Amino acid sequence: MEIVNAAIIYYSATGTVHALAQAAAEGAEKAGAHVRLRRVAETAAPEAISAKPAWAQHLQDTADIDEASLDDLEWADVVLFGTPTRFGNVASQLKAFIDATGPLWMGGGLASKVYSAFTASNTAHGGQESTLLALGNTFYHWGGIIVPPGYTDPIQFQSGNPYGTSHVSGDGAPGEVALQAARHQARRAVDTAAALKAGRGA
Ligand SMILES: Cc1cc2nc3c(=O)[nH]c(=O)nc-3n(C[C@H](O)[C@H](O)[C@H](O)COP(=O)(O)O)c2cc1C
Repeated sequence: MEIVNAAIIYYSATGTVHALAQAAAEGAEKAGAHVRLRRVAETAAPEAISAKPAWAQHLQDTADIDEASLDDLEWADVVLFGTPTRFGNVASQLKAFIDATGPLWMGGGLASKVYSAFTASNTAHGGQESTLLALGNTFYHWGGIIVPPGYTDPIQFQSGNPYGTSHVSGDGAPGEVALQAARHQARRAVDTAAALKAGRGA
């Protein structure tokens, strides 16, 4: 199998999406990829963060994870993006990272890679799918190859979101079903990228 580079780029304020991102990194590694797990820069005001202890604590707990850079996107054959649902949309922190990719995009540096996305929301119908579809808009503009999990593994019939791994954080931290779904999603994205890489090299 072709070795592919997989970047897992995410934002998480209170740890839910971080847990999914870690599971995605495990899945990508198991599929044989070189993996970079990266959090995007925090852009919120320090007063807003310190007003919410769980937010401040998570930021401190993940300080050792490297911040995402444009080099990570350039390096990757496959990119999985993770974001909490914010009013049915992508978190502004991840959007700020995406909005800084203009020069790379202009040079064709984001085209023809594999992309996939995962999310978490507080409630079951709180906008997970609209968030994933919103991220999809970016992938279309980049000329990306979107690889959703669909129902390609039995775990998908338990986790239940063919657009991308999603977790309802109001029910607690991600359990084994969500984590397995994230691992499966990453594996599938990596396998697809590897097949593309092999085909392009043939
Ligand atoms: C500004 C803001 C907007 C949010 N919007 C939604 C929403 O539209 N639907 C929902 O179910 N949860 C919403 N949430 C809750 C988060 O999506 C949820 O807590 C998520 O799991 C947090 O992920 P994290 O722990 O990785 O930060 C919102 C939270 C914030 C702070």
